[in-house]
Amino acid sequence: MTVPVVTIDGPSGSGKGTVAARLAQQLGWHCLDSGALYRLTGLAAQRAGVALGDAPALGALARNLAVEFRGEAVYLDGIEVSRELRSEATAAAASQVAALGAVREALLAWQRDYAQPPGLVADGRDMGTVVFPQALLTVFLDASVEERANRRYKQLIEKGITAILSDLVEELRVRDERDRSRPLAPLQAAPGALVIDSTGLTIAQVVQQIREALEQRLSGAG
Ligand code: C5P
Repeated sequence: MTVPVVTIDGPSGSGKGTVAARLAQQLGWHCLDSGALYRLTGLAAQRAGVALGDAPALGALARNLAVEFRGEAVYLDGIEVSRELRSEATAAAASQVAALGAVREALLAWQRDYAQPPGLVADGRDMGTVVFPQALLTVFLDASVEERANRRYKQLIEKGITAILSDLVEELRVRDERDRSRPLAPLQAAPGALVIDSTGLTIAQVVQQIREALEQRLSGAG
């Protein structure tokens, strides 16, 4: 792979999305939030009344998603869904459709197309293990479930979305368990990944650790 790629995988609320966006901005690289594609598929299925276990129908839906990203805003079939996309209900639907091979396959080429010069930072669950196994640097970002639920709670409240902390802990547990135990592309650290536990670390500290590891790679030292 000629385009340098940094992958950041980890469970929900580990901070990978924020870290990936900030790292990409600092480097002037592209950024792929792969979870958004699974969320869009889950949302599209619910809107079209497709059952979340109907693999062939969901595969076709994922292949033909009419999505537009305009800055921070996301449109599905011409309708803005930015807010709905971040809800826990959409996350749960995403995690269900993400267990299906037909859906993962439909989204694979789309994700790989994001690897454009000068470089890409991609976050998700299988960026280092399946989508970009040749990445220059593979990171696995973790944090305790309580800390992750707390972060998610703050994010949702800031966005004006109602949330109950104890429900979030439970929802994260269920979703992580499904993501870790599924047979296809389960959430796990890729061999040789830089594993960072972000519990008690700031975003800036995590980004700094990744930048140091990346500089070593780019200079051929690590
Ligand atoms: O990262 P985010 O919370 O937006 O992802 C929503 C869901 O999409 C995850 O719980 C996971 O099931 C699925 N996902 C995935 N593979 C990815 C990214 C997300 O299976 N690369």
